[in-house]
Amino acid sequence: MFKINDNFCKLAESYLFSEVARRINAFKAANPQADIIRMGIGDVTRPLCQAAIEAMHRAVDDEASSETFHGYGPEQGYPFLRDAIAEHDYLARGIEISPEEIFVSDGAKSDTGNIGDILAVGNRVAVTDPVYPVYVDTNVMGGRAGDFGADGCWSNILYLPVTAENGFVPSLPEEVADVIYLCYPNNPTGTTLTREQLKVWVDYARRNGSLILFDSAYESFIRSEDVPHSIYEIPGAREVAIEFRSFSKTAGFTGVRCGYTVVPKELKARDADGNEVSVNHLWLRRQCTKFNGASYVAQRGAAAIYIPEGKRQTREAVDYYLRNAALLRKGLLEAGLEVFGGTDAPYVWIKTPGNIDSWKFFDMLLERCHVAGTPGSGFGPAGEGYIRLTAFNTYENTAEAVRRIAEADFG
Ligand code: MLT
Repeated sequence: MFKINDNFCKLAESYLFSEVARRINAFKAANPQADIIRMGIGDVTRPLCQAAIEAMHRAVDDEASSETFHGYGPEQGYPFLRDAIAEHDYLARGIEISPEEIFVSDGAKSDTGNIGDILAVGNRVAVTDPVYPVYVDTNVMGGRAGDFGADGCWSNILYLPVTAENGFVPSLPEEVADVIYLCYPNNPTGTTLTREQLKVWVDYARRNGSLILFDSAYESFIRSEDVPHSIYEIPGAREVAIEFRSFSKTAGFTGVRCGYTVVPKELKARDADGNEVSVNHLWLRRQCTKFNGASYVAQRGAAAIYIPEGKRQTREAVDYYLRNAALLRKGLLEAGLEVFGGTDAPYVWIKTPGNIDSWKFFDMLLERCHVAGTPGSGFGPAGEGYIRLTAFNTYENTAEAVRRIAEADFG
């Protein structure tokens, strides 16, 4: 009989957000009258902005005529979108990224998961803990994680705890990490790194020949001056970092699917024989083989967020979620909880009262408040004793969730 990739058998039974959804659905089935406020998975609720809608309508019309029809597009994305990204996301901030360094995709989840295809199995991987589970699970699939231990850690992965005790700033690993995943503004904690704090990592990577996989999916939520919008703001980052961006949270594209990855030309790695290899070239080769490009309609919609109305409209939606985050922070702090993040991010990270364990507190919130969050321990062992709430619901529901939590008795 044929054999499967054994690494998949090492994974937990289900992906974190599938498990959270399963538990919410089971609760809802048993309590159909419960008015559940969903603040679990970070899915947006505001409709697409008008500029994107209009551009996508026009794109659909293009597909209706043989003169303007688009079949397969360039695997790395249409020039109209790559040029707009280079100009507005980078040049406008003084960063030079050429369109050839930009790879449009169906989202940052796919790219952060797929990037492992071009990395050797023997690389030592480091992740912050807690962490977006895609980074760890895809390294398990790729055979880089080792074995899962009783401590909740994978034997070959270096965990960099980020907790209230260290101000959510990861320390450099004691052993050399070849590949380091950093997500800032951070999912799940909603915290950020300053330019100085990020520079420590770029300098480390340059000293050690490491690769930084910088997930910047929440960049549009940054409002603080000292928080970098791109890792390429840090000198030398072009030699050591790949940056992932997404239109999901920026422009409500969680359902449409579009994002992009930047792989600078200066980024070089070595093959097993010690030869220097261009990572940009390798990623292009991978994408051309395994991916046929994001849809034309989605890319037209994404390009529209760079025109003046699109910029204004998407900023309004992000501001709406940031207002929810501020409401969550303030209300829960006033209710006596310890609350982190939520200033430059759509996530609020909450210490469970009385050190209740994360899944137990998830159940309590669901049963007593009809509020669904995501248990901190689902993101890694250092997330134990925390829960994450998102700011992606409506303002009214966010206010109602705060009211219910403030009035609840978790004793
Ligand atoms: C989250 O809730 O962490 C995110 O929505 C997951 C994702 O972007 O895939």
